[in-house]
Amino acid sequence: MSSKKRIGILISGRGSNMASLIEAAHAHDYPAEIVTVISNRPTAGGLAIARDAGIPTVVIDHKDFATRMAFEAKMHQALLDAGVELICSAGFMRMLTGGFVDRWRNRQLNIHPSLLPAYPGLDTHARALRDGVRIHGCTVHFVRLEMDTGPIIAQAGVAVLPGDTPETLAARVLDAEHRLYPHALRLVASGAVRVTNDILETAPPTDTPAALFSPPLRP
Ligand code: GAR
Repeated sequence: MSSKKRIGILISGRGSNMASLIEAAHAHDYPAEIVTVISNRPTAGGLAIARDAGIPTVVIDHKDFATRMAFEAKMHQALLDAGVELICSAGFMRMLTGGFVDRWRNRQLNIHPSLLPAYPGLDTHARALRDGVRIHGCTVHFVRLEMDTGPIIAQAGVAVLPGDTPETLAARVLDAEHRLYPHALRLVASGAVRVTNDILETAPPTDTPAALFSPPLRP
């Protein structure tokens, strides 16, 4: 029997982060396998990508449910039916209630396009540019009730460049997201991290650069 963790991915849209997880999980030594992709939007572009990759997909349209709790009960059941052990939200744009979040506590990951706790919510790149930050980035974290909060698993810093627009910055952050999410999922699925007092504990790094400088250190 496979010892890989069984992953369910939640999407709402184009699914590029989902695709990066599917791709990573092809490696024979990756500690997780993607067993289902669930979308709350029937038109999500990611559904076709998942199907083409041979992953079973489920559409659970939130508009078909009278209450948030009824929608989440259906999603919870679909995850159980697929034998899911860990959830990866990847551009899943629905707020979740405490009932669902508690059931999947420390078993649901999310990716967000900023260095949390800075810039939770929407329009993260435009807001970072408006504030003039020199280092922006992305975060993978465990999900808690409040939007874009929860123990941080991994982050990638991205230098803001002169002339950046929200679009150019978003493209570089997205590129980092596609590398960060498989890395963070590997840490969780392999049991390399644990959460203590809502903070992540990890082994000391061996090859991490001391700092990212932006602008770069040049004479
Ligand atoms: C990604 O940039 C992800 O970080 C963001 O939505 C995009 C989804 O793209 N998520 C959030 O803002 C969650 N708060 P994708 O569908 O191509 O992965």
